[in-house]
Amino acid sequence: MPLPPNRTAKITAVGKYLPERVITNFDLEKLVDTTDEWIRTRTGIIERRQVGDGEATSHMATAAARDLLEKRQIDPEEIDCIIVATVTPDMFFPATACLVQNNLGASRAWGYDLSAACSGFLFALDAGARMIESGSSTKVMVIGADTMSSIIDYTDRATCVLFGDGAGAVLLEACEEGNEGILDSILRCDGSGAEYLCMEGGGSLHPPRAETVAGKKHYLYQDGRIVFKYAIKLMADITAEVAQRNGLKSEDIQLFIPHQANQRIIDASVERLGLREDQVLSNIDYYANTTAATIPLGMADAVEQGRLKPGDNVVLAAFGAGFTWGGIYLRWSEVF
Ligand code: ACO
Repeated sequence: MPLPPNRTAKITAVGKYLPERVITNFDLEKLVDTTDEWIRTRTGIIERRQVGDGEATSHMATAAARDLLEKRQIDPEEIDCIIVATVTPDMFFPATACLVQNNLGASRAWGYDLSAACSGFLFALDAGARMIESGSSTKVMVIGADTMSSIIDYTDRATCVLFGDGAGAVLLEACEEGNEGILDSILRCDGSGAEYLCMEGGGSLHPPRAETVAGKKHYLYQDGRIVFKYAIKLMADITAEVAQRNGLKSEDIQLFIPHQANQRIIDASVERLGLREDQVLSNIDYYANTTAATIPLGMADAVEQGRLKPGDNVVLAAFGAGFTWGGIYLRWSEVF
C-alpha cells in the first residue's frame, strides 16, 4: 500500500562511474557472428563500457559513491548504511558493501549486498527508504554496480552484445513533509523463471570444478526469447499499476526512468503509459545493460542534463533475473 504521508525518504545526491574502455558493436563484430545493424535494431545498443585490468565492482561502486559525496559535500563518516545491489560482487564474501565502506572510510556505516539482478537497485532503494522512514538511519547510500563483463561469454553472440559495466549511487535522507521523496513501491519476484536467466556455476549447487568451467557454467545464461516475453509484459504491467494506484496520468509524469535491457522493452512500457519521448530516459545506446546500475546511471544522466526539477513526478521500473520486477513512484527533490 502507499506509504503513510508523515516521513519519507528523498534522494538528495546522485553519483556515477563508467569505466573508460569503450566496446563498440564493431568491436564485437570481430569476436562473434553479429553486426552493428542487428544489435542496434534489435536492442538499441551502440556501445558499452568495460572495466580495465584489475578493476572490479567495488572499485566502480566506490568511484560512484565518491562522486556522490563530493557533490553533496559531506564526509563519509556521516553515512549510516551502504547497500550495494549487484550480481557481480568482487567475491562471494565479504560483501562488496564492506569493501566500499572501507575504501570510503565510512567508519560509522554498516552495509550489505542485495542480489536481485536488474531489479536490484529498486529493491535496494526500497530497503533504504524503509530505514529512513523508520527513523533508524539518517543517511543511507544505495549503489547499483555490476561488472557484467566478468560473467559474459564473449563467444556467445546472444548475450555478449547486451551488457556493459558501470555503477550509480544515490543518497537517501529524511523528508519530513511527506509530500516528496519515495512515495510508493511495488516489488515482485517469481522464482519459476530462474532457469531462463541465471549463472549456475560457483554456488553451492554447482561448486566450481573443472567440469563447471568446461561446461561454461560460470557465465550468464539467458533464454532471450522467453525472458523478452515476460519482460515486455511484466515491466509494462507494473509500471501501469504504480501509475494507476497513485492517480498518475501520462501528463502527470515528468520522467520515466526504466531499466535499460532492450529499447523494445522500454518502448512497450512507454506505450502502455502513453508517454512522449521527452518524458523517458533512455541511455541504453551508450551504456547497454549494466544490470543493477542502469537506473541510478539514468538518474545521474537526467540530473546532468537538467531534466529533473523539485516536484517532478518520476516513475522507475525494472525487470530482471529471478524473475524479479518492480515499479517505484517518487517526487523529485533538490538534488546535488
Ligand atoms: N547477432 C546476430 N544475430 C543474433 C544475435 C546477434 N548478437 N543474437 C541472436 N541472434 C539471432 C538468433 O540466433 C536468431 O536466429 P535464428 O532465427 O536463426 O534462430 C535471431 O537472431 C533472432 O533471435 P531472437 O532471440 O528471437 O532475437 P530477439 O529479437 O528476441 O532479440 C534479445 C534477442 C535482444 C536477447 C531479446 O530477446 C531480449 O532483449 N531479451 C530480454 C533481455 C532482458 O530483458 N533480460 C533481463 C534483464 S538481464 C538481467 O537481469 C541480468
